[in-house]
Amino acid sequence: MRDYPSDRVDLRSDTVTQPTPAMREVMAAAEVGDDVFGDDPTVIELQNRIAEMLGKEAALFVPSGTMSNAVAIKSQTRPGDEIVTHRRSHIYMYEAGGYAVLSGCSISLVEGDWGMMSPEDVQNAIRKVEGSDSHYPECTLICVENTANVGGGSIYEQDTMDAICEVAHSNGCRAHLDGARLFNAVVASGVDAARMVRDFDTISICFSKGLGAPVGSVLVGDAAIIAEAHRWRKMFGGGMRQAGVLAAAGIYALENNIERLAEDHARARRLAEAVNSMDGYSVDLGAVQTNMVYVSCKEGGARALVASLAEQGVDVLDLEESTIRAVMHLHITDEDTDRAIAAFENAHI
Ligand SMILES: Cc1ncc(COP(=O)(O)O)c(C=O)c1O
Repeated sequence: MRDYPSDRVDLRSDTVTQPTPAMREVMAAAEVGDDVFGDDPTVIELQNRIAEMLGKEAALFVPSGTMSNAVAIKSQTRPGDEIVTHRRSHIYMYEAGGYAVLSGCSISLVEGDWGMMSPEDVQNAIRKVEGSDSHYPECTLICVENTANVGGGSIYEQDTMDAICEVAHSNGCRAHLDGARLFNAVVASGVDAARMVRDFDTISICFSKGLGAPVGSVLVGDAAIIAEAHRWRKMFGGGMRQAGVLAAAGIYALENNIERLAEDHARARRLAEAVNSMDGYSVDLGAVQTNMVYVSCKEGGARALVASLAEQGVDVLDLEESTIRAVMHLHITDEDTDRAIAAFENAHI
């Protein structure tokens, strides 16, 4: 599907997707209310549907994945607490230090290949006040990311996630899943969504990435935590009025854009294998499990590579000096993938 008013092949992110004509139609026709008063029927429907899909009690529609993670942290910690997450997680790297500013939390970072933490490393990163003569902060929240974005779009083994939740709970901590791309993990692994998130206390999911909606995320969990999150959403400025127009896009995405994520994964693999076979590039093929391709190029060559690909109509992001990222999404066709492969072949760096 192209449905896209540009002849460029935009692989910078799956966030660049634009609502298709069919999605715009359901948005335009959406029944709305005032969601701050809690009477927008389309928002209520979206929240109920996603909570049911994940086997949890309740959900809260928020403007962005960043806000969803922020209200999740705020609702499950107190100032002075500590959270544990991966060194390359979105919460640590790309949310402007919100855990510190908005929640007053310190952070304990865990290393691990492909953006993933082991249960043992999580256990070792947890610090509790008790037994420390009040030297340590109180760790109260473990944040896992699946798929792991900067890990290459990689997917946790179910056993590993279950074990991390077990470590969290046995240490008196709660477990939050940043599932911005949860459905990429669900489609690629074949694990049912409710099973995947079973042991997490809260889960954040984005509609505005591979699912193709223009705006919106949800935080999912039990009714008490979602009621708490509702208050923080208001304080953070995330209460929206006729938000049903946006929630309709989320419902459309759940109905139409989940299964097709497999196409993005297949194109990512094709691009990864082709680029990895070319001189001057390498791709860790093991990490290419969903819709992302991280390409290592000549030392310090990422900027020049981005520029050379852009000259050929292909847009990617330079994430580090020698690493670029290409992400597949619903506007990218097989022909676009061929164009991207040819552009890598012809790039001058
Ligand atoms: C893993 C992950 N979590 C959270 C977010 C934040 O989403 P948003 O850009 O909607 O704030 C992103 C955005 O790319 C992400 O990749």
